[in-house]
Order: sequence, then structure tokens, then C-alpha cells
Amino acid sequence: MSRVAAADLVLLTAHGGADLDSALEASDQYSPLEGPDRGFARAMASAALRALGRIDLVLSGVLDRPLERIDPPVLALLRVGCAQLFLMGIQDYACVSATVEAARRWRPASRGGALVNAILRRAASEPRAFLEAPATSIWPDWLAAYIRSSIGEPAACAIAELQLEEPPIDLSLQRGERAADWADRLGATALPNGSVRLETGRPISELPGYAEGRWWVQDAGATLAAGILGDVRDKHVTDLCAAPGGKAMQLASAGAKVTALDISRQRLDVVKRNAARLSLPMTIVEADARGWRPEQLQDAVLLDAPCSALGVLRRHPEGAWRRDPADLARFPKTQASLLDAAWEMLRPDGVLSYCVCTPSPEEGVDVIEAAIRSGRWERRPIAPDETPGFSHAVTPAGDLLTIPPPALSVERASSEVERDLAASSVTSDVFFVARLVRRS
Ligand SMILES: C[S@@+](CC[C@H](N)C(=O)[O-])C[C@H]1O[C@@H](n2cnc3c(N)ncnc32)[C@H](O)[C@@H]1O
Repeated sequence: MSRVAAADLVLLTAHGGADLDSALEASDQYSPLEGPDRGFARAMASAALRALGRIDLVLSGVLDRPLERIDPPVLALLRVGCAQLFLMGIQDYACVSATVEAARRWRPASRGGALVNAILRRAASEPRAFLEAPATSIWPDWLAAYIRSSIGEPAACAIAELQLEEPPIDLSLQRGERAADWADRLGATALPNGSVRLETGRPISELPGYAEGRWWVQDAGATLAAGILGDVRDKHVTDLCAAPGGKAMQLASAGAKVTALDISRQRLDVVKRNAARLSLPMTIVEADARGWRPEQLQDAVLLDAPCSALGVLRRHPEGAWRRDPADLARFPKTQASLLDAAWEMLRPDGVLSYCVCTPSPEEGVDVIEAAIRSGRWERRPIAPDETPGFSHAVTPAGDLLTIPPPALSVERASSEVERDLAASSVTSDVFFVARLVRRS
């Protein structure tokens, strides 16, 4: 029963605090599902989690009691029902009757079926409550306020609106492969940065080129951090926080002599598997980057530092509900000490690519400005023509922040310039990337 499975996934994540991957493994409602039912259950759960705060706002408006007083499994079913109504285009009648049936089967004693019937009918009759809710209401209030105050209302809304859509799957290609050719073969789209974009839901490991190791999955925006290192052929490059390995694969495919280091053995196993499938040579090291030093000074270091990951919430939306403000405050210190370690690994004039997957300035530009103030680093600004598809993301200081421009959709653009920008811009997860040079 897909709807019960979807609700169980929402229960385990939003209520139980698990991440979605663990919930997929733990759910005894999801595990017996097969084929399309599995995909449908997962899609419903992801849609509900991507819009959770906004759905709860709608439910609060039509319920006669606070959400906390609803039996948690019934609340999870209501959330999944709203995701079908407002995000998945499922007909009101089909959605209500199937969700009521799910409640009767799953929670026969709680009279959840009657409540689900009444509440989903009311929610369906007032779609404007969802459509007109503030874009950032998808997140917990404190987080929405934090993101708005950090990057401004229009940028916060642009990220929130993108989160409502099911994210695509982007592929990075081995050196020598052409994006246009793979787009043809896979029925996908070639992006200006050289990635290939697939609609979500395709069975990755069954696609042409997977077994042969011709490509790997990596968000288009994630390619920027290695891309700004330029021609790395035969250069010694260390990827300091490498797992699961997308950027290390990119560097090795471009011909660099790569050391891929990570603190997590489990995550390094994924790097090993990826490197083997792609036949890419690299030295793999399990260590804490803050204490490890290479045998020889490096030409370049890529530091994709641990961070709050607020820029990848569209792929891991439950993350918004698993964080708290204290959690965010602990990252900048770690990021600064990893940056110090990177300095010691680089040769004079060696280049650092610093990257985090969050729009939070405390973890991005503030860390970089402090490093420059220390006198040990110099910024090497990134130019718009270095990053096809992402010229909109180059900041005045010469860093990258891949927030979709507010007028990104061609339909909404209000001038020729905006229309051109919209047509040539790639949407992606949100990354901050800066390029620094180690001063001698
Ligand atoms: C954002 S992820 C890296 C993603 C990776 N660069 C990619 O492209 O696939 C951050 C990684 O940093 C690792 N990490 C966290 N603290 C670390 C430390 N002190 N030393 C080395 N790795 C660390 C984590 O295990 C995690 O795999």
C-alpha cells in the first residue's frame, strides 16, 4: 500500500528524526513494496517533506485542534494527502478516497479515516491556502527567518520555490565524452556547463554508460568547485573531504594525480566503488584532514568542507527539521581549521578551491574574508566566462553562490536581459565556492 508506506516514511523522518535514507531501510511498510509502488511511495514522501511547513500551515487552517493533538500516523497520512493534492497533480477524488482507505487499514482503531476524509476534502476545496502561502513557509519558522535574514527575501524565496520541484538527476561525463551525444542517448538535456540532466525517477544503474563507467551522478552546481581549478592535468591535487567522491572523480577524470581523503571509512567505501566503476586512479586516505599532511606539497587542494547543507534541502528536505540554531553555529570553526590545514598542504602559490553546500554567509564568504584578513591567502576572483551556465552566480567579489536568480523562469522575466539570463542559466543545488591562492 504505497500511501501507508509514504506516510510511514514521513512519520519516521518528520516525527522520528531519521533521515530519509535510513527511513527507507527501516520502514516495514515500505520494504515489502515492489516496482512502481516503491517509486510512488518515495515520491509522495519526498513531496510531503519538501513542502512540509507549507502543508502544515494549510492543515492548521482546516483542523479544529493543534497538529500536535492528531495521532502522528494520521497526521503523516494527511501530509502525504496534501502533497498529492498540491504538488503531484493527483485528482482530488482519487487522492481523498485512497488516503481514507489507507487510514482505515493502517489505523482502524483511531477513526483516522473519518478525519482524513473531512480534512482532505476541506484542504482540496481551498487550494489557494497552499498556493498563496509564503514560499519560505516550507521550512521551520526559525530556519526561514535565518535564511531570509542571511541572503534576503527574494533569494530565500527563489531557493524555496526550487525546493518544491522534484530535483533532476545530473550526470558528469568522463573526459572526452560529449554532453550532446549522451543527451541524445539518454533522452536527456545537455547543460551549458557540460553536465547532462535527466528527469528524476530513472533507474540509474540500468542506464547506458553506467556499467561502462562513462559518467557519474553529480549535481551541475557541484561541478564548479573542481572546475575553477582549471587545467589540472598531471598536477598533484588533494580532495580533503572527498566522500562520496563526485569532485574527486572529476579531478581524476581531468588527469590530476588525486589524493582523496575523508574521515569516514564507510563513506570512503563509496569513493572506492565509484573509482573502480569509472576506472579512475586515485590514492584513497582515511584520516582527519586537520592532522594529516601529504608527503609532498600540493599544487591544488579542494576543500568541500562539512557544513549545514542548507543548499541541498531539495534533495534532503527532512534536514530542515533535523537542524537547530546551535547546530549551525558549530560549522565555521571546523571550516576555519580545515582551511588552516589546507594552507599547510599547498606549495607557495598553490590554489585552493573552498566549497560549501549552503547559502549561509557565516560558512561561506565570512570564512573566506577571515582567511584573507589573516594575510596567508589571496583571493583569485572567478570570472563569469569560466563558469558557463552559472555566470549569474558570480558575486561582485569573484566567488560563486549558485542561488537561482529570482527572475530565472523565462516566463517571468521582465526584460530582454533577464530573459537571456534565464534561458542560459542552470538551476542547481546551492553552493558557495571561492578560489584562494596560498601566499608565500
Ligand atoms: C560535503 S561532504 C563532501 C562531498 C564530496 N566532496 C563530494 O563531492 O562527493 C563532506 C565530507 O567531509 C568529511 N569530513 C568531515 N570532517 C572531516 C575531517 N575533519 N577530515 C576529513 N574529512 C572530513 C565527511 O565525512 C564528508 O564525507
